[in-house]
Amino acid sequence: MVTTEANLTQEVRDFLNDGPKKLLIGGQWVEAASGKTFETVDPSNGDVLARVAEADKEDVNRAVAAARKAFEDGPWSTMTSAERSQVIWKIADLIEEHADTFAQLESLDNGKPVVVARRDDVGGTIDYFRYYAGWPTKIEGHTVPVGVPQTFAYTLRQPVGVCAQIIPWNYPLMMAAWKLAPALAAGCTCILKPAEQTPLSALLLGQLMLEAGLPAGVMNVLTGYGETAGAALAAHMQVDKIAFTGSTEVGKLIMQAAGKSNLKKVSLELGGKSPNIVFADADIEVAKEGAAAGIFYNMGQDCTAGSRLFVQDRVYDEVAQYVADAGNKMKVGRGLNEDTEIGPLVSEEQLQKVTGYMSIGQQEGAVVLGGGGRPSDSALSRGFFVNPTVLGQARNDMRIAQEEIFGPVVTVIPFKDVDDVIRQANDISYGLGAGIWTNNLQRAHRVAAAIKAGTVWVNTYGGTDPALPFGGFKQSGIGREMGYEGIELYTEVKSVWVNLE
Ligand code: NAI
Ligand code: MG
Repeated sequence: MVTTEANLTQEVRDFLNDGPKKLLIGGQWVEAASGKTFETVDPSNGDVLARVAEADKEDVNRAVAAARKAFEDGPWSTMTSAERSQVIWKIADLIEEHADTFAQLESLDNGKPVVVARRDDVGGTIDYFRYYAGWPTKIEGHTVPVGVPQTFAYTLRQPVGVCAQIIPWNYPLMMAAWKLAPALAAGCTCILKPAEQTPLSALLLGQLMLEAGLPAGVMNVLTGYGETAGAALAAHMQVDKIAFTGSTEVGKLIMQAAGKSNLKKVSLELGGKSPNIVFADADIEVAKEGAAAGIFYNMGQDCTAGSRLFVQDRVYDEVAQYVADAGNKMKVGRGLNEDTEIGPLVSEEQLQKVTGYMSIGQQEGAVVLGGGGRPSDSALSRGFFVNPTVLGQARNDMRIAQEEIFGPVVTVIPFKDVDDVIRQANDISYGLGAGIWTNNLQRAHRVAAAIKAGTVWVNTYGGTDPALPFGGFKQSGIGREMGYEGIELYTEVKSVWVNLE
């Protein structure tokens, strides 16, 4: 246990010792039907942080029944939209009140720097709930001038129903918010399954949502594994919609399960291998920093990580070497330390995957310009740390350019001109994000239009905002979260005909 550590707040210690570790079903904290539990560990040293309940099929049945009852019987669905708004706003206030606790828990469970967790994960989550707290009173239908005489026609936009939401471990709290906030704004009821690597912040969130006055059964939390609890949610006949963020491989399984069961609505936010393109005419100082931040942020465990760095021939050496040096200078350490810039990867499995790609890259002929391997510091030897790594002299057809590594490892590829880089950037199965660094206005807009990706950043990289749609082209996903598109994901449109004669 880590509860004796000096820099943990009392509230975090109390949560680790006595906070909820069970399943939240129908407003009650309950053991898994099987009685099973599993461990969640601190990736900076492998120590066990807590044991939490392990949900399986029977728990999924119970949670879906509770969410169904809450959806059909109210009071969530019968409340006024203004009242729903207030509950969602209250959730944001409570998260803000416990912001430091969330930040430390997130850092402990995921490994990420606590400073970043506090600013981005927790700060972003608060903004996100507040943004969607504004939506319930603005979800409207239309009156429609149909061609039939003496007919009044209008549309209603109604909640889709019971929603299952399966999220990953890279931004545990924020991914929960991305899924829950629009669903609640639309009037749906939810079953959240956090990733098995990082269940803690979802449990605290569940506790605060009850405190905020969310009625029993509106939000249920099932901690557990993907192959069991997750798969049972995807196959369930009484789940109306499933929203997923994670690997493309599992996204395909979820879509198949929906197809084989009740054709539940599916939205998917999947992997990426985003091109970050530096033209020689860019403000190179700014572009170089953007290239480094675009890959090393969150240890590269980011679906829009700028992991394919394309650099125009003339500035290739300068930019590649800068990113390598920037990586070498970053402070690798435990996320809880305030000066840490690179924490551990989330798990032993990810450590094996990421170091595996470092070797594959060298076998393929890429050159390690910075980092490579694991830190030599013996204090870090029990954690899942890797060095920020730059693989240069790479080609777009290498595996290190085509496959998602999901670590602080960037593949740097040279290009000649605009046509060459558009062709290479689009020569990939993914399409989540892209960056363009140039001072040429025509070029910026031309390339932004030509890249097949859900988000394009020009002279900046990686930002998201609750008001701006986010999602993927190609195998990076289906549907758009955030903004009004987020409301569309969680609503059905009904057309009503009224004969006026
Ligand atoms: P994953 O896709 O297996 O896990 C994500 C979530 O899906 C977790 O909650 C997991 O329990 C659940 N899940 C797993 N199998 C399932 C199934 N058969 N049915 C329903 N739910 C299931 O991702 P994993 O294994 O943690 O990471 C593997 C790779 O996936 C990473 O290396 C990375 O490339 C990618 N990934 C992408 C993310 C993104 O933000 N787009 C986030 C996490 C991982
Ligand atoms: Mg997996």
